[in-house]
Amino acid sequence: MIKKVGILTSGGDAPGMNAAIRAVVRAGLDSGLEMYVIYEGYKGIFDRNIEKVNRTFVSDIVNRGGTKIGTARYPGMANPEVQKEAARILREEFQIDALVAIGGDGTYRGALALSRNGIKCVGIPGTIDNDIASSDFTIGFFTALQTIVDCVDKLRDTSSSHKRCSVIETMGRYCGDLAVYAAVATGADIVITRENPMPELDLFEQVRLQTQVEHKRHLIVLVTEHVCDVNELADKITKECGIEAKAEILGRIQRGGTPTAMDRFLGTTMGAKAIEELLNDKTGICIGILNNQIVSTPIEEALQMENKPNKVYKHVLQRTR
Ligand code: F6P
Repeated sequence: MIKKVGILTSGGDAPGMNAAIRAVVRAGLDSGLEMYVIYEGYKGIFDRNIEKVNRTFVSDIVNRGGTKIGTARYPGMANPEVQKEAARILREEFQIDALVAIGGDGTYRGALALSRNGIKCVGIPGTIDNDIASSDFTIGFFTALQTIVDCVDKLRDTSSSHKRCSVIETMGRYCGDLAVYAAVATGADIVITRENPMPELDLFEQVRLQTQVEHKRHLIVLVTEHVCDVNELADKITKECGIEAKAEILGRIQRGGTPTAMDRFLGTTMGAKAIEELLNDKTGICIGILNNQIVSTPIEEALQMENKPNKVYKHVLQRTR
């Protein structure tokens, strides 16, 4: 039976992580467990940056963005010797026998490795990218989406005033969900993602059609990061299409801010479920929401699942523009 549980956040921070930390700590204490926070992700294990916490440690954070316990990317965790040592430190130096790891796929890989080294681990999907296929939605996605929508609404005002085309780059790493959902929600004109690419010539034709034939005053083009250089794309549109185009890279502003109700809801329900699964003696699993049910999936399986590309939403966008 587990007694001491650690919790960490790793990878890019995401709004709603604090709600998940709060739920894990409180549900754990409620079940009679000792709860420990590990600061700055997996690195905190090696820095022995670990603290026992009570319920007031997590007071007043459910509504705050970022992560109270810090986060970091720690590529060293890919090394099997480092993984073994991390498990040893937790077990022998802190008597921590279980861990809840909140983050994206890199975080999941670390948790899987620790579970293979004898620490009971549960992962919670915390990333704005929505790229964890074992959950319909990840913690942070809805807040980042709302931030993008707010930015696009503002850019629309100025684009329309100046008769310009705004080429806006969203985050998402290799997952187009932020761009596609934001495009639908803002009534954007064109969306380009890795899953739904668009040849440049087709794009130019679309821009010309919408500005010269349909006489739109502005054009909003959303692009997921890593698909192309949006500054170069804007220059090409300016040259080829007879409308001035400006690129905007939204950047890390998408990761900050007050978590939306949905991200707090996801963080809280998944956090409580993580503790429930540990008490059921589960390990090497991750929590998710699938078809409106809270579920757990083996991490190994989750890492192999493919994200479903958003073809349906693209279709909706084409029919409603
Ligand atoms: O995974 C979250 C994320 O914000 C991605 O969308 C982005 O590609 C990456 O992190 C950026 O990470 P960093 O802030 O470490 O450069």
